[in-house]
Amino acid sequence: MKLLVTGGAGFIGSNFILYWLSKYPQDKIVNFDKLTYAGNLENLKSVEKNPNYEFVQGDICNHELTNQLTNSVDIIIHFAAESHVDRSIMDPAPFIKTNIEGTYVLLEAALKNKVRFHHVSTDEVFGALELNSKEKFNDTTPYNPHSPYSASKASSDHLVRSYFDTYDLPITISNCSNNFGSYQFPEKLIPLAITNIVEGKKIPVYGDGLYVRDWLYVDDHCRAIDLIIQKGQIGKTYLVGGLTEDISNIEIIKKILKIMDKNENLIEYVKDRPGHDRRYAIDWSTINKELGWKPEHNFDDYLKMTIDWYVKNQDWWKRIKTGEYQKYYEKQYK
Ligand code: NAD
Ligand code: TYD
Repeated sequence: MKLLVTGGAGFIGSNFILYWLSKYPQDKIVNFDKLTYAGNLENLKSVEKNPNYEFVQGDICNHELTNQLTNSVDIIIHFAAESHVDRSIMDPAPFIKTNIEGTYVLLEAALKNKVRFHHVSTDEVFGALELNSKEKFNDTTPYNPHSPYSASKASSDHLVRSYFDTYDLPITISNCSNNFGSYQFPEKLIPLAITNIVEGKKIPVYGDGLYVRDWLYVDDHCRAIDLIIQKGQIGKTYLVGGLTEDISNIEIIKKILKIMDKNENLIEYVKDRPGHDRRYAIDWSTINKELGWKPEHNFDDYLKMTIDWYVKNQDWWKRIKTGEYQKYYEKQYK
């Protein structure tokens, strides 16, 4: 099989490429990525000389290039997006452009070249759940996004589904919860907290810190996408989540501080994010029943593995914090 992976230099996309090439070494992967601030080819150093891996720098909004790359592949796995809620609040424009228009351009290319399309989306399209309720997002939860990020992802999901309903394009969608693990850009909560602790900096906690996310380890997410690609029903959307029982941001930060043997005086409460969704929780029973997927380990084990990775790979994230990582493409590829 030959896969076109969009956004493969980002956090989940690069984990997915490493996962796929180690599990299916005979398959070919084209990584199509614009290399925005979030794209980091250093994540893929271990495969850059693999003859079955190719990197193409480009924008998914570019019709011609997208069409050309789609021409020779069997499937598109679409990760490319602007992904950070806080940035979408500061400037929604790139979110509208990449997440909506870029998805449309890819869908057109998939249709023209008769290529299967898997769209990676988020649980944030469903809006927010009440704190302390037992409610979870499920297969019938209506869309109710609150941030420019989640609204742009919701639009992209609707577009993908419309290409199935209207043109019979073979699509699948996964809506997953907050991922964490290796190679996550240190602007997101867990890597930000760990790297700040190592540097002796404060950890900013938005509002009262009692916001709840449903944490999914990135390798479990990659396995879920693998199963959907291999055995998922065409036209269907799968919800993917973790094993945490309503753990708040402040509890996670306290766990990290405890594991790293540091004092809670590093916690700093700061102004809340506008439109901040209170709670996310996912009912992933459909993918469990249909495809046999479930997370492999519990949250605490994954959190320890993640802390360990960031402590051992300080070079990786320090090169991000200094901006050095953005020179890697020029040095290695040009
Ligand atoms: P990321 O921000 O780490 O990486 C995004 C990648 O897309 C980067 O490599 C970037 O260079 C690339 N990109 C951005 N605009 C592009 C464009 N116009 N053309 C080509 N490439 C472009 O994101 P991530 O955390 O790896 O998320 C991947 C996908 O998963 C996104 O679609 C996101 O919405 C979804 N998702 C992420 C999470 C999470 O917790 N990280 C949770 C649910 C869903
Ligand atoms: P984030 O990692 O940005 O993911 P998302 O907004 O997509 O859920 O944030 C996770 C949670 O952590 C969210 O409730 C916002 C909160 N948060 C903080 O309290 N402090 C921070 O510095 C960041 C980045 C996030």
